[in-house]
Amino acid sequence: MTAAELRSARWFAPDDLRSFGHRSRMMQLGYSEEEFLGRPIVGILSTWSELNSCHGHFPERVENVRRGVLAAGGFPVEMPALSVDESFTKPTSMLYRNLLAMETEEIIRSHPLDGVVLLGGCDKTTPGLVMGAITAGVPMIFLPAGPMLRGHYAGRVLGSGSDAWKYWDERRAGNVTDEEWLGIQGGIARSVGTCMTMGTASTMTAITDALGLTLPGASSIPAADSGHQRMAAECGRRIVDMVWEDLRPEAIITEAAVQNAAKVAMATGCSTNAVVHLIAMARRAGVDLTLDHLDALGRTTPLIANVRPAGKDYLMEDFFYAGGLRALMKQMEAMLDTSALTVTGKTLGDNLEGARVYDDDVIRPLSNPVYAEGSLALLRGNLCPDGAVIKPAACDPKFHVHEGPALVFDSYPEMKKAVEDENLDVTPDHVMVLRNAGPLGGPGFPEWGMLPIPKALIRKGHRDMLRISDARMSGTSYGACVLHVAPESYVGGPLALLRTGDKVRLDLPNRRLDMLVDAAELERRRAAWTPPQPRYERGWGYMFSRHVTQADKGCDFDFLERGFGRAAGEPDI
Ligand code: FES
Ligand code: MG
Repeated sequence: MTAAELRSARWFAPDDLRSFGHRSRMMQLGYSEEEFLGRPIVGILSTWSELNSCHGHFPERVENVRRGVLAAGGFPVEMPALSVDESFTKPTSMLYRNLLAMETEEIIRSHPLDGVVLLGGCDKTTPGLVMGAITAGVPMIFLPAGPMLRGHYAGRVLGSGSDAWKYWDERRAGNVTDEEWLGIQGGIARSVGTCMTMGTASTMTAITDALGLTLPGASSIPAADSGHQRMAAECGRRIVDMVWEDLRPEAIITEAAVQNAAKVAMATGCSTNAVVHLIAMARRAGVDLTLDHLDALGRTTPLIANVRPAGKDYLMEDFFYAGGLRALMKQMEAMLDTSALTVTGKTLGDNLEGARVYDDDVIRPLSNPVYAEGSLALLRGNLCPDGAVIKPAACDPKFHVHEGPALVFDSYPEMKKAVEDENLDVTPDHVMVLRNAGPLGGPGFPEWGMLPIPKALIRKGHRDMLRISDARMSGTSYGACVLHVAPESYVGGPLALLRTGDKVRLDLPNRRLDMLVDAAELERRRAAWTPPQPRYERGWGYMFSRHVTQADKGCDFDFLERGFGRAAGEPDI
């Protein structure tokens, strides 16, 4: 690539009135021509906001990247993008992942950017940024926010999400005082950075790392570590070279890279949300990843990261000290396609050279896994013809084969009220069901899938039961929860026909989920079913409702998927 061939040269190089305007406005910003003409212009897309508790360090990281870009002879420009914070967004951040993907694509497409560094990490920001940047097609590096430090309170280590759920149940059982509860509240999130369990954030940044889209091992560096700043500056230096090398995402996100990423996800005990996001990202790159592929990988990939919630003992900070993602990938190198190209311009195999494990209880050898298989399993049956997801490693094995009567709720508020009723008619064998909680019904596919155990059972000492929904669940959750039932009930999936008292059967070894109701009866119920009221009649929600695909297709918008219509192309004015 020469200076004349830079994408930004379309804006700045011609001797015409329009380019005069562009150059003149750069001078209005205080820059001389020597600073930007003929140099790679690097967009630093930051998903910072004052209400994104995980990205509080991004203003400083933008400066770190800027330093790197300048040192390598590029010209950095910060371009803010939708923050999509996980902690405050209602009804759910998932409603906005595709908005960030659209914004990312359009920011890049409409501006004189030759390459981009994407700053994300809080759950939906990673797939949102990556999906949009894949479609935009310019060279890109993903800069993961990094996990926060371990939580601490009163001598106890606390894990994001997981320990919130755990101690909430203990509080409901009457075992946690107000003072302790306040202490846990203040101690569970102690620094900037993303959730430090192997939740959705750590899963998605690990996937992006394994895809070859981050600097090697970048996803494991804690946000508060000075190494994180150095990594950010290196992203800035490297992206400038990537522009000159014209190293674009389509050369990196190949079938082989997607397979590598899926295997690494399974080996980390990934969040169930990985299924939806990895499918969506892969499809943007033209790789058709299906639930069946993922199930096959789930059956053959041992879980070797002993990180909560699927692992037992450790958190992301321990994982970093044990060698991080490079060490994990080194451990499973024989299972990976090490010829896959990465943002370094080298192969995955080159990047893994010298990586090693420093604590083999945190990152286990393949011969001593946390679980031999079963990070994720994909189910089919008359309740979920297009699939459903469960995390076998995170649930009590006694539920792996289970039959019991359904206890069905049509809405979250209805369920929330019922579970607090100490006289609720429920046994440990019951199968609790929440419907109208999918991509369209939720709306926005909320993380309600770890349905709360009814108080009536909590008081008797029960902490797990079989639960089914068309919702997602937080990656930090655990328990016998069947999720992502597709098609969802809101669009008339069979889950809509289930009634309280019907027998439901989960057979995990055979990957089946069925309601034991005869076909004629189901036909009668189907004939009587009426579609629910539309959730939105205007705005973003309306657009989302018209175009979102179901869980098994990644919940992208139909019109954003690869192959839909003619590409917009480069600006010709
Ligand atoms: Fe941001 Fe968990 S809330 S990563
Ligand atoms: Mg989460």
